Parts: sequence; C-alpha cells; structure tokens
Amino acid sequence: MTKKQEKTEDEEVVEETEVSDTHESLLETLQELMAADGEISDEEEQLFDQLKQLLSSDSEQPKKSQIRGILTSMSKVDGKADLEESTIIKEYLASLPDEISNDSDIHEEIPDSTRDLEIDGDAHMWIRDLDLHYGNAQAIYNVSIPFKRNSVTALIGPSGCGKSTLLRCLNRMNDLIPICKVDGSIELDGEEIMGRGADLVTIRRRVGMVFQKPNPFPKSIYDNVAYGVRLHYTPSRRELDKIVEESLRRAAIWDEVNDRLHELGTSLSGGQQQRLCIARTIAVEPEVILMDEPCSALDPIATAKIEELILELKKHFTVVIVTHSMSQAQRVSDYTGFMYLGRLVEFDKTSKIFGDPSKELTARYISGRFG
Ligand SMILES: Nc1ncnc2c1ncn2[C@@H]1O[C@H](COP(=O)(O)OP(=O)(O)OP(=O)(O)O)[C@@H](O)[C@H]1O
Ligand SMILES: [Mg+2]
Repeated sequence: MTKKQEKTEDEEVVEETEVSDTHESLLETLQELMAADGEISDEEEQLFDQLKQLLSSDSEQPKKSQIRGILTSMSKVDGKADLEESTIIKEYLASLPDEISNDSDIHEEIPDSTRDLEIDGDAHMWIRDLDLHYGNAQAIYNVSIPFKRNSVTALIGPSGCGKSTLLRCLNRMNDLIPICKVDGSIELDGEEIMGRGADLVTIRRRVGMVFQKPNPFPKSIYDNVAYGVRLHYTPSRRELDKIVEESLRRAAIWDEVNDRLHELGTSLSGGQQQRLCIARTIAVEPEVILMDEPCSALDPIATAKIEELILELKKHFTVVIVTHSMSQAQRVSDYTGFMYLGRLVEFDKTSKIFGDPSKELTARYISGRFG
C-alpha cells in the first residue's frame, strides 16, 4: 500500500492543497529566475506556459516525467543549465510523489529482475544485475540486458529514466563521474569488464561512442579520423591514409569530403560532422558502437542518412542506440529495451515491442500516452 492510500480523506485534501501551493511557488520562482537573466525569450515563455498548463490541469495528476522534461528544457534555454535553476528543479521534483508509486497496477508490472530474458544465439555484450547510484540516489535498478552481435538494440523511455546512464556503463564512461557507483556485471564477448584491473583504454577502443551533439575536434577532417588511431599505435603514412579513407567511406561521407581532407572538421554541416564522428569511432576498429540520440541535433535529411548508415554499420559492428523517436527505433533496431524510472520494463524484438508489447506500461509509452 502506498503512503497516499494510507491517508484519511481529510489528510488527502490537505496534501492536494500543499502540492498546488508548491506548484504556485515553483512558477513564481521560475518567473523570477527567467526575468533575472534579462529578456524572457519566446522559447522560455512557451515552455513556461506549457508547464503552467500541465500544473494547473485538474483532469489528471501531472506526470513527474513530463514536468521534468519541461523543466530541463527551460533550464537549458539560455545555453547553460545554471546551478540555481538545477537546484530548484531537483528539490521540486524530489517533493513530488513518484507517479509510479501511486499506481499499484503499473508497479506490479515492473520485474525485479529480467534475468530470464532469452535471446537467440550469443549476445556480444551482457549487462547483468546492474545497480547504479549517483551519490545516494539510485539511477539503475537491477537491470539485465543482452546486446546481440551484429544487431541494433534501441533503448527507449522517458527523459531521466536512465538510458544514457546505462549506455555509459557499456564502455565504463561512468568511471569519469566521481559520485557514480556501479554494481553488477558487464561481459564483452564473454569477458568481464567491470573488474578493478580492467584496461579502460582497451575497453573504450573496443566499445566506441557517438554523442548526441556532433563533437569533432578543432582539427582537420583527416586528423579527426587519424587521432584515435595514433593514440593506439604508430602507423606509416600510407597505412594511416588507408585507414582514414576506409573509415570515411564506411561512415558514408568520403564522397563529400575527399577533396577537402585538410579543412577543419568543424567547417562541415551538422549531419556531416556526425558522420565524421562516426568515422572517427570506426577508425580504431571497435566491436560495439554506442550512440546516444545521434540524430537529435540533425534535420530530417541528415537523420535519414545516419539511419541508413546505422543499418550498414550493423553488418560489421554491434550497435546500441538511445533514441526518443519511436519511429527511429522501429526503423533501425532489431531489439528494443523500454526503461522507466531506472528499471528495464520490457526487452524484446523491436517488432514485438511495437506490435504487441507484453506490458501495459510499454503500450502506454509507445502510444505516446505518457513521457
Ligand atoms: N552526472 C550525474 N550526476 C548525478 N545524477 C545524474 C548524473 N547523470 C544522470 N543523473 C541522474 O540519473 C537519472 C538518469 O539520467 P539519464 O541521463 O541516464 O537519463 P536519460 O534516460 O538518458 O534521460 P534523457 O532522455 O533526458 O537524456 C536522472 O535522474 C539524472 O538526474
Ligand atoms: Mg540521455
């Protein structure tokens, strides 16, 4: 039984008034913060109206994940999530009841462990029984998930559910966050990579990563691709030329840049920069490529090119992609894991997840009823 259910009717009324008071004071504080920055931009105003509408709607209890999404976007409008805003948002979210704990039917749907998942053939990577904390806050709860070789696996779920956190575990990028503590096992080709003695440089070469925002180095196109290779060994000029050309070809960008290899990588368009970053990742011959919302900063044409490329890449690599786009997950992935509040709710073939999901919560998410 949840705390809310234990309360008497009178207490319930008091609690509802308190929640709306909290809403009111949050709106006031946000308005002050927005005004303190100088002009309130149209984008800020739009997000603020959206938030106000969400908080004042009496038809349905506002969803924490939706509120979090809007607040996060608001805090990034001026290009930086400033500390004061982040602290207010964190405190406010902590004061809200967890929507999941108010919905006992859904709660029962979340498995404690997904240990019995089966996958045809061997998985290239396995996460098993993974728990992750940032300080005292748990962000991942007992997640187990396989990543099948030469397949694309999509991780989907509402903002803040732990997709990026889980993805970063796969090449131990979370080691760079001092407050992050990970328990559990991750196997790469049958080899445990979570041990203290694991060689992080080798793991990050074998498991490459492409980020949400294209981030070429301020170097030439050639040097962007050659950079990682030079870190691992010293190839001859001819060898390096070959690696650079091949990587750019495999990233489907060679034809667009072969006559300007010595121009800056940052001079390319957003979509080209993202393919350059994919070429840079491929150049060190990884086995697995992680992609965290690789198309979210791109227009539809550049997105279509990356999606086409992903389908090509899986012939050589195992791909794990985080995406907010349901249609993208359906177009590019073979398997899909749906995450919610740090749990893996459902994992299956993509056709099953989107055609006939086993869990009501998955059905609600993929049909856009929350998140
Ligand atoms: N470096 C960090 N320090 C502390 N907490 C963090 C850190 N990174 C993420 N978190 C918290 O962990 C939880 C999961 O965050 P994560 O970024 O993995 O979510 P996500 O599913 O990728 O969300 P989005 O779709 O918005 O990118 C959130 O509650 C977030 O606030
Ligand atoms: Mg993320």
